[in-house]
Amino acid sequence: MDFKKIKNIAIYYFSGTGNTLFISETYNKYFLLKSKSVDLKPIENIEIVSSQGKYDMLVIAFPVHAFKAPKLVEKFINNLPSSTTKKPVLLLASCGGMPGSSFSILNKILIKKGYYIASNFYYSMPDNVSFMFSKDLISEKEIMDKIALAKDKSFKDFTNLYSGKEEVIKSNIFKRLFSNIVFYFLSKSLKKNKWVVDYNKCIFCEICSKNCPTQNITVKKQKREVKFSDKCIMCTRCYNLCPVNAINYKSEKTKDFKRYNIFKKELISK
Ligand SMILES: Cc1cc2nc3c(=O)[nH]c(=O)nc-3n(C[C@H](O)[C@H](O)[C@H](O)COP(=O)(O)O)c2cc1C
Ligand code: SF4
Ligand code: SF4
Repeated sequence: MDFKKIKNIAIYYFSGTGNTLFISETYNKYFLLKSKSVDLKPIENIEIVSSQGKYDMLVIAFPVHAFKAPKLVEKFINNLPSSTTKKPVLLLASCGGMPGSSFSILNKILIKKGYYIASNFYYSMPDNVSFMFSKDLISEKEIMDKIALAKDKSFKDFTNLYSGKEEVIKSNIFKRLFSNIVFYFLSKSLKKNKWVVDYNKCIFCEICSKNCPTQNITVKKQKREVKFSDKCIMCTRCYNLCPVNAINYKSEKTKDFKRYNIFKKELISK
C-alpha cells in the first residue's frame, strides 16, 4: 500500500474500557505526524456509514471478546458500503494476548465487500475481564508496563506499515469455527442477567446507563432501581466505571476487586 496516496483517514473504534480508544488515539497521533487528516469516530454512535467514501483509508479498532470482535463491530463492518476501489482497511485489536479468529472473520467480510486488508495488528493490553474468572486486577505498575509495551509495539507496527511491510493474520476454518462456538456460548450466557447492583452503595448517578453502548441499563432514581435488559455485550464498562463499585458480577464475590478504570476520563468525555 502506498501511503503517499492516502490523505484522509477514518479511525472507527469501539472500546469498552478504554484500551482500544488508547490504541486508536495513538495511531491518530502517528497519522497526524505524517500530515494525514484523521477523523476518530466511535462505532457505538454510528447508525449507518454513508460518509466513508471521502476517506482514502479506514482503520477499524476493536477489543477481542471470546476470540472474536464484539457483535456491534461485526455489525458495523457488515453494514459498510462495498468498495469499488479496493480501499485499504487497517484492523487493530486490543486484547489480553489471544486474538483468536477475530481478524480472519472480519478480513473475510471486508474482502468480500471489495476492501483491501492493509494489515492486522493486535496489542496485548491489561485485561478487563479477570473478575469473570474470580481473579482480581493486576497491580497498577503491571498495568502501566503493559500499556507502555503496547505503545512500543504500535510504533514498530506503524513504521513497518508506513514503509510498505504488511501483516495479515490468517486462521483456518477449524479455528474460526472454534471462535464462533465460544462466542455463541458467551453471547447466550450474557442474555441471562449477570450484573448485580449493591443498593447500599449505588448513588443513582446514571453513569452506567448513560454510558452503556447498547442502552441496556435503566436507572430509576425515585424507585431506587437499576435494571439491566438482555442487550448486554459484556463490554464491562458499567462494572468498571461505576464510581462507587456498586455493580458486581453474578454475586458479591467481585465486591472487593479493583476496577479497571484507568481510561475513565477519556471514555466518559467522548
Ligand atoms: C467478555 C470479554 C471477553 C474477552 N475475551 C478475550 C479473548 O478471547 N482474548 C483476549 O486476548 N482477550 C479477551 N478479553 C480481554 C479484552 O480483549 C482486553 O482487555 C481489551 O484490551 C479490552 O479493550 P477495551 O478496554 O477497549 O474494551 C476479553 C474481554 C471481555 C470483556
Ligand atoms: S454507575 Fe453505579 S452508582 Fe451510578 S447509577 Fe449505576 S450502579 Fe448506581
Ligand atoms: S450492561 Fe454493562 S457490560 Fe453490558 S453492554 Fe452495557 S455497559 Fe457493557
